[in-house]
Amino acid sequence: MKNILHISSSPRGEASNSILLANRVISNLLEKYPESKVIHNDTVKKDYAHLDSVLQGAYFTLPTDRTALQEEAIQDSEEAVAQLEDADVIIISVAMYNFSIPSALKAWIDHVVRAGKTFSYGNGKPEGLLSSNKKVYLAIASNGVFTEGPLKALDFTEPYLRFILSFIGLTDITTYRIEGAGMPDLKETAVEKGLQQVAVA
Ligand SMILES: Cc1cc2nc3c(=O)[nH]c(=O)nc-3n(C[C@H](O)[C@H](O)[C@H](O)COP(=O)(O)O)c2cc1C
Repeated sequence: MKNILHISSSPRGEASNSILLANRVISNLLEKYPESKVIHNDTVKKDYAHLDSVLQGAYFTLPTDRTALQEEAIQDSEEAVAQLEDADVIIISVAMYNFSIPSALKAWIDHVVRAGKTFSYGNGKPEGLLSSNKKVYLAIASNGVFTEGPLKALDFTEPYLRFILSFIGLTDITTYRIEGAGMPDLKETAVEKGLQQVAVA
């Protein structure tokens, strides 16, 4: 039995390759751990706020000292962090946008990367505060191919996600990709090739 958390970032629902790939990971996990619970956090629908002065203030104010406005503003962040804390396995489905991640996913990141809560600089060095026992799968979809060839150096999606997740303690990361889905010679096979990679440990 595992607590599985799916963070999605594509607005395309059933047409989304990244969600399709994440769902393959989830179905493999459910075969292996049939009693598992799955929570889906759709960051597009959730529409996390950009950080304004109230929310930023709330992040750096002790809970006992927060204003009512700050307390209200910080609720989405508290909930998003609690979801990560409760999860054993986290699947992040990522639509590559402009060589990077969708702004909906970046907004989620700005709600879960929090000083004193998910990371600290306590000993002068950054330390992730989430348990490194959690398994993370990235399910990335792109029209181009980024694992090899001329676009490899332009992939700001996977390196950024790997860094920022490790920064908060989530170091056990496996990536699957559906890539090349927009390229004439690859589009017929890209989806199946991506799905075939999925092997859940
Ligand atoms: C706004 C936007 C920007 C995109 N930028 C890129 C890109 O930089 N590189 C790329 O290979 N594909 C890019 N694409 C194509 C998507 O990555 C591709 O359609 C992918 O399948 C989206 O994920 P989804 O199927 O889960 O929605 C972009 C698509 C959109 C809508």
